[in-house]
Amino acid sequence: MARAMALLVLLLVACSSLGSAAAGGSFNVIRADRKVDLLTQVVRVSTAWKVENTGVELATEVQLALSSAQVERLAFLEIVVKGKGKNAPGVFVTETDVSQQGSVTLYTFPLPKALKQGEVVSFESYVALVHQMKPFPEEISQSDVQLVTYDDSAYILSPYPVKVQTTTFQLPSSRLESFTKVAPTKVMDTEVRYGPYESVEALKSKPVTLHFENNQPFAVAEELVREVEISHWGNVYITEYYKLANKGARLKGSFSRFEYQARPGASGVSAFRHLLARLPVNAHSVYYRDDIGNISTSHLRSDFRKTELELEPRYPLFGGWKVAFTLGYSVPLQDLVFKAPDGSRYLNISFGSPFSHVVVDKLVLKVILPEGSSDMSVSVPFAAEQLQERRYSYLDTVGRKVAVVVKENSILEHQFKFIQVYYKFKSLGMLVEPLMLVMAFFAFFASCIAYTHFDFTLSKSTSAYLAQIQRDEVMDVLQRLQKVLSIRGAAEERLDASLKEVTRTGDIAACKAARKAADAVWKGTSKDLKMLTDSLQSSVKSVPGKTPSVKPSAIVTKVESLLQKEKEMVEKLQQKQMVIVDAYERKLSSKEIDSRVAPVQEKLESLKQEVSSLISSLDD
Ligand SMILES: *[C@@H]1O[C@H](CO)[C@@H](O)[C@H](O)[C@H]1NC(C)=O
Ligand SMILES: *[C@@H]1O[C@H](CO)[C@@H](O)[C@H](O)[C@H]1NC(C)=O
Repeated sequence: MARAMALLVLLLVACSSLGSAAAGGSFNVIRADRKVDLLTQVVRVSTAWKVENTGVELATEVQLALSSAQVERLAFLEIVVKGKGKNAPGVFVTETDVSQQGSVTLYTFPLPKALKQGEVVSFESYVALVHQMKPFPEEISQSDVQLVTYDDSAYILSPYPVKVQTTTFQLPSSRLESFTKVAPTKVMDTEVRYGPYESVEALKSKPVTLHFENNQPFAVAEELVREVEISHWGNVYITEYYKLANKGARLKGSFSRFEYQARPGASGVSAFRHLLARLPVNAHSVYYRDDIGNISTSHLRSDFRKTELELEPRYPLFGGWKVAFTLGYSVPLQDLVFKAPDGSRYLNISFGSPFSHVVVDKLVLKVILPEGSSDMSVSVPFAAEQLQERRYSYLDTVGRKVAVVVKENSILEHQFKFIQVYYKFKSLGMLVEPLMLVMAFFAFFASCIAYTHFDFTLSKSTSAYLAQIQRDEVMDVLQRLQKVLSIRGAAEERLDASLKEVTRTGDIAACKAARKAADAVWKGTSKDLKMLTDSLQSSVKSVPGKTPSVKPSAIVTKVESLLQKEKEMVEKLQQKQMVIVDAYERKLSSKEIDSRVAPVQEKLESLKQEVSSLISSLDD
């Protein structure tokens, strides 16, 4: 019997040591000091750990434990392992494994350096949680302050036994209604200190509740969709769709604007009137609108480091109130899109919402690549869901690839987390655009002519000499034609960009101005085109000597048909602009707008096709 008991004990010991071996060594926490920041609506817990490997095996990883209530609302988790020496830089580590042990979830972090028996490592864990504070009372009137309750444990939830530990809760004000005492507990102004406690076993907790004043507006975006559209014509367009709510104590009774305005410091203290967004330094073309329309009460401030936007919703947002709005802005391409060493490109963009104090329950980031991109891959430095989509718009034929990253519980910390979307984009992909087609056309001729030119340079015969002069002339005319067409193409592009802007912002006035400017360019340059085609014709009239590989008369014919198509494209674009402006002026639904634009767009596409086949016919 005694033997059996001994065996059982041995088995149990073996099992438990196996369990800790899986956790990478057996640890003892020499000291742990936890700070719980309750100053905002986000709970930020930083804990300094000093941990010793008490097992014989080499320890290569360390674990953190969270309760199931915490896991559900976990926004951010990271540890920083301290280097040796006072000023040694810390190493940031993210978890590599997550496992369940009863009601506790264990997160495993690899250690930068394996730990031998008796060795000690110091690290700091950093955990941010949302929706942990509950308004209590749940309803308040306009003149009340907001009180909240917060549940936690006086003991640190640790996967290892802890020799000595303390916990400090930092409060936003000194008004503390009540708190659970677990001696020793001490209140000092805006802090509540628990501990030191000695020799607490692993995974032991001791529930405590704090009830205190917190007038921070609980601004929560139940959903945020951030759309990032890359255009290789110079900008990245960012559009953010917010569904925002004040999740603080609900407003009891009716709202008095008079009282709110007359006593700004004492009325609606937990409501929010302004929202501050931190946009990229060179953000421009900023707009902000809600369901009703454009909102002009916003202030944009920028210096060389940042651009700040202050928004003012139509009404202050009290507890329980909601508002939906859209924020849009553009950022120069070169600020966000870079070349990777392997020649592919990548977008490098901050993941989080630019509103630092808004908690996002569900953030969906969509990156829309330019048409003709391939080999998309996404790098995300935290756990998130990843998807792919395809997107079609007025200007597309084959649709665009869209990278989607979805994360629950996103906070300020994610503003400093960058995701990269890698893709390949051949400049040939841009050939889908008419201007580029025209450029390629001329580049082809120029290279043909330059090539045949070499055939004659060695010969000094008169006819060869004349042929050379003539070729130089043709080259010259073609180059000037190319210049004029590129000016026209740039005007096309600007008009097209403003049409896109209309569909985003409804800014008809800007689009009309763009049209006027484009018309002036087209009118001014059509005379030049006429003059240049005339001189092209006269310079190829009498071709002396041998026939070059590109027949000069064939050049004229092809140039003429190309110019004809270019003219038709300009006309179609003008028509498209009219249709869009007209539709927006009449405030048609987006479905109706689509049905009106579609036929014009189809003709534009087929013109592009024709130009494209003109170019492929050059190879014949
Ligand atoms: C929206 O407001 C901006 C300025 O705040 C203005 O430039 C733009 O024209 C407005 N758009 C509409 C459709 O009213
Ligand atoms: C992305 O941008 C951030 C901030 O500018 C920078 O710190 C980071 O190194 C960039 N990442 C890559 C892969 O370029």
